[in-house]
Amino acid sequence: MKKVKLISAMLVAMLMAFMVVGCSNDSAGGESGSGEKSSGGGKKSGGKVNVGIVLPTKDETRWVQDEARFKDALKDSDYSTEILFSQGSSAKEKENVETLISKGIDVLIIAPHDGAAAGAAAEAAKKDKITVIAYDRLITETDAVDYYVTFDSVAVGEAQGQYLVDNAGDGKGIPLYLYGGAVSDNNAFLFFEGAWKVLQPKIADGTFVIANSSEAEAFKDKAELSRDEMGKILGQITTSWNANEAKNKAQTHLTAASKDKKGDVLVLAPNDDTSRAIADVFASDPDVSKYVITGQDAEKASIQYIIDGKQSMTVFKDVRTLVADAMGIAVDILDGKTPETTGSYDNGSKEVPAKQTDVIVVEQENVKSELIDSGYYEESDFSGL
Ligand code: BGC
Repeated sequence: MKKVKLISAMLVAMLMAFMVVGCSNDSAGGESGSGEKSSGGGKKSGGKVNVGIVLPTKDETRWVQDEARFKDALKDSDYSTEILFSQGSSAKEKENVETLISKGIDVLIIAPHDGAAAGAAAEAAKKDKITVIAYDRLITETDAVDYYVTFDSVAVGEAQGQYLVDNAGDGKGIPLYLYGGAVSDNNAFLFFEGAWKVLQPKIADGTFVIANSSEAEAFKDKAELSRDEMGKILGQITTSWNANEAKNKAQTHLTAASKDKKGDVLVLAPNDDTSRAIADVFASDPDVSKYVITGQDAEKASIQYIIDGKQSMTVFKDVRTLVADAMGIAVDILDGKTPETTGSYDNGSKEVPAKQTDVIVVEQENVKSELIDSGYYEESDFSGL
């Protein structure tokens, strides 16, 4: 198997040597990205694109970050690239992949909208001998994924859960509100798995009381949940990664909550977009005296919320590293080298070789050291820092 791969990689490399000559990266120009197509065009001669990048949607702030970081990283690339957005539709995603296939890509980097539904798009690419790299979100139930670059998503959930435990204050019966990501996203399960691992013992011993999920309540004595069990809970507490849905759910929950479920409360919010929406609802309830709320992605708007004391923490996932890892694998493939990986993920169909990056908890006191001093953001992007 390995030999076959190596030989085909060498053939690809030889082929590339012909095709890449004189090829420049059109997406490096920093086009502002109107509509779904954010950059690219590939090299001028014949529209050949080396690496196709498909991101889920511009409606979730996370992926706009990734687009910008890809553009930064691609400025000096020898290879041509094109970034397309799927706008939360698996059909659009498949169409995007087909468009990129028709432009001759050799490597596809794809963050799927729906991890299972994206199998069809990955299989279409594989049929054309394209190397498929799942980016941040795993594509599940298919053999057609070659590599996976990701953050340690279970650690993201653990960090969120641990933050709530560490900042809960004293006493028993502290109300805990749980929110999750989209059930179509494999990561939503990993985040929840990590959070549950840390929170469950505190729920089981009565330190925390679940305030908004009968499904989670039903499993409160179970340390490890199956995917089906997590699916039941997530089905109830999902935000679909959508700020409006998060806000509406939080409003419904607080309207229904009795006074003993208010006061000082804890909120597991899955990411920054949803955290800010949920935080606003909790902040405006006169019966909520204090809330501790999680997030992830270190989005600019959430960093400002953290500085202002409106969001408690975020989990910083340095997208620069993920982009570098994805492009590193892509370039290795194009250069005929075998990419290095650090582990693997079971996608239900195969063990996908993976490269994983650690995450960092950011709260008020380390915003500056983690995000400004590292050059991730400019100090002038924020007020009151
Ligand atoms: C990503 C998160 C992101 C969420 C919503 C997840 O798959 O890992 O960083 O906040 O999707 O876009």
